[in-house]
Amino acid sequence: MLYRLVNKLKKVIQKYQRSRLAILLVFAISITLLFILPALTQSPVTLNLLMTAPDAQPWPSIVKDFETKNPGIRVNIIEGPNATNLIEDLYTSAFILGDSPYDLVNMDVIWTPKFAAAGWLLDLTDRISKEELAAFSPKDVEGGRYEDKLYRIPIRSDAGMLYYRKDLLEQGGFEAPETFDDLIKISKALKQQGKAKWGYLWQGRQYEGLAAMFIEVLQGYGGYWINPDTLEVGLDRPETIQAIQFLRETVNQGISPPGVTTYQEEETRRLFQSGQAVFLRSWPYVWPLANEDDSPIKGKIAIKPMVHAAGKSEGACLGGWGLGIAKSSKHPAEAWKAIQYFTTVEAQRSFILKAGYVPSRRELFTDPEIVAKYNHYPQLLEVVDSAVLRPAIAQYAQASDILQRYLSAALTNRMSPEQAMQSAANETRRLLGTRGES
Ligand code: GLC
Repeated sequence: MLYRLVNKLKKVIQKYQRSRLAILLVFAISITLLFILPALTQSPVTLNLLMTAPDAQPWPSIVKDFETKNPGIRVNIIEGPNATNLIEDLYTSAFILGDSPYDLVNMDVIWTPKFAAAGWLLDLTDRISKEELAAFSPKDVEGGRYEDKLYRIPIRSDAGMLYYRKDLLEQGGFEAPETFDDLIKISKALKQQGKAKWGYLWQGRQYEGLAAMFIEVLQGYGGYWINPDTLEVGLDRPETIQAIQFLRETVNQGISPPGVTTYQEEETRRLFQSGQAVFLRSWPYVWPLANEDDSPIKGKIAIKPMVHAAGKSEGACLGGWGLGIAKSSKHPAEAWKAIQYFTTVEAQRSFILKAGYVPSRRELFTDPEIVAKYNHYPQLLEVVDSAVLRPAIAQYAQASDILQRYLSAALTNRMSPEQAMQSAANETRRLLGTRGES
């Protein structure tokens, strides 16, 4: 009897030991699967980021710094076409198709309302404090908001300005121009004296840069495109026609090359940098390139705010870029880490020294290292502060497309300025659902 009991007990203990072993085994395997294996086999997370080819130039070394500090994250920069609207189209079709490869979204200041309204971006409002945001220029921050939420952190600002050949102006005995008439007069005189082949270069191709350039001329005549608060459209007003006439005159009078209506920023920059023109309207990125050692115009240029009509004030178009996170990204935490790094004072300084970016952080306009290289930066802050934002409306891309089409038709003499702008105004009002002014 006792013998049978001991035997039974022995079996129970053996069974218990076996199951304990099994439990231990299962536990050990789970730990390995959950923690140890992934750590051994984990490949770094890659964040994809698309941008224009010229914009991509200063990024590799800054990305390298970020990756050294964050060994588990890689940033893959994809170089796209030069025109901002083509990059916008690529992001748009990727988001519409649903399986977007992009984690970070490098956004022009005009895209936020559309991308946010479409639900393609993560809301970043709670990730950054008011105090941290206060270090950035308010207009750049504004460009990242839609309906009181923040979707984009500014990487850099931008503002259109007038470049001129101070050597040629001095030789001709001219002061820098203030008005559109001054610019025409000086251009003609220096051309006649054989000092330069062309007077004035501007971006006339049918693309977003045309709209950006045009609102500066429009503002200089006291006109407006769309009032974002009232949605009033000012395209069929006399100021708009005057602005177009000024641009047409520059071509008709041989001050601007006939090909100017096909130029984007880079075509105008190359022509100006080759030494063939007196004036150029462009963005601050031109400065370091035009002053490179092998540039024929190194040390011969100056910048100033855009010219305007007598009695009116000048307008600079506010440009600029910032980073958002795609809602479809599988790595939002890593993407936020990258945004935090790329917007630090240290990374920003590096971008600026490399590429002549306009700071989005205000303190950098007067940073000693930056001012030592670009002594015009403190002045630039004023230009950025008074620059004009293109209308911040969700239908911006369509509104800009309408303006670009009709403006291009008027500038290439396919339509009269009046006809073109009447049609542009009507189409824009239909788009916005507003009624025409009388
Ligand atoms: C610059 C500006 C951008 C603008 C573009 C137009 O990149 O920063 O805001 O839309 O030029 O070409």
